[in-house]
Amino acid sequence: MNINANYDNLEQSYLFSTIAKKVNEYINNNPDKKVIRLGIGDVTLPLCKAVTDALHKAVDEMGVQSTFRGYGPEQGYDFLREAVQGYYKKHSVNLELDEIFISDGAKSDLGNILDLFDTNNTVLVPDPVYPVYVDTNIMAGRKVNFINANAENEFLPGVKDIDKNVGADIIYICSPNNPTGAVYNKTQLKEWVDYALEKKAVILFDSAYECFISDPELPRSIYEIEGAKNCAIEFCSLSKTAGFTGTRCGYTIVPMNLGKLNKMWVRRQTTKFNGVPYIVQRGAEAVFTEEGQKEIGLNIAYYKNNAKLISDTLNECGIKHVGGKHSPYIWLKCPNNMKSWEFFDYLLNNAQIVGTPGAGFGKNGEGYFRLTSFGSTENTKEAMERLKKLFKS
Ligand code: MLT
Repeated sequence: MNINANYDNLEQSYLFSTIAKKVNEYINNNPDKKVIRLGIGDVTLPLCKAVTDALHKAVDEMGVQSTFRGYGPEQGYDFLREAVQGYYKKHSVNLELDEIFISDGAKSDLGNILDLFDTNNTVLVPDPVYPVYVDTNIMAGRKVNFINANAENEFLPGVKDIDKNVGADIIYICSPNNPTGAVYNKTQLKEWVDYALEKKAVILFDSAYECFISDPELPRSIYEIEGAKNCAIEFCSLSKTAGFTGTRCGYTIVPMNLGKLNKMWVRRQTTKFNGVPYIVQRGAEAVFTEEGQKEIGLNIAYYKNNAKLISDTLNECGIKHVGGKHSPYIWLKCPNNMKSWEFFDYLLNNAQIVGTPGAGFGKNGEGYFRLTSFGSTENTKEAMERLKKLFKS
């Protein structure tokens, strides 16, 4: 037996596991201190009523012989795929049902999709970025090339920023971006689509934060861009949209125009996946009802208000930052030229605030720090008061 030696090329532990370990150590040593977590992008508001009602109903169905369900379709029940189809239609994107795959979240599918691609493909990933893109490719032994996202390009790297010597068979784009909160406009995305079509590359488009976009001119799906169905796979999730981080449900779009990829994904999923639980899919379906949309809209507004609170405080403290407008994340320059992990320790020790060190998202993240608006407003306010004490002159 030979182990997969590619694992030796990974960081010792996953970014958010490292942070959790450090925070738990701090709490054990300082049990009297109240730690406020604005680190991992985990939601705090409960599931909305439309969803819990649907979940309860589905649980009852499962306890009755005539409505009990066993294995479901691996690609998801039609009732949920139709609901997703209707949601896309609102943004003028027409999808066939067979292009929609219900998943247990974007993170799993972003990793699983790599089963469809040869290990010799080269991968292009923005830096900084959600660490899953890089780690999953390293696990598979694929070569990862980076494209710089920085203050100069407003954290939105474009085709012009690609190093001419690197290949890009598989291109990752996350918009609204995790961690920087930056959002591509249609013109910028069109450039990526045109590039992918020219190079016969595939774009893996992560739209997990699309619901935070409030400007109707900004694209929420890559399929709003002409030609994207010929080159892009899209991953979306109800985690941040509807508080499903613990409930687990998302969807992946693999267009028919991508040749064999749609059939291959069906083959992969039917072999390795038994679908999302019926109960969860009924809860997810409720997100797309009128009531559900209204209720999650209130939750998203709540988080956006927290983001504004954070942004206003950073302005008062003279701390440079971006994001937070169409995204739950605020990306800030560490004050006093501190390095990311240095600032992480400083904030934890002096204000008991947990954030995410930018360096954990890539080399360009060094010197930056990410705060999330997913905490409670009460805690966010308290954290901001603590921050002011440290940095407001
Ligand atoms: C994050 O904090 O970046 C996200 O919560 C990670 C995730 O969605 O898996």
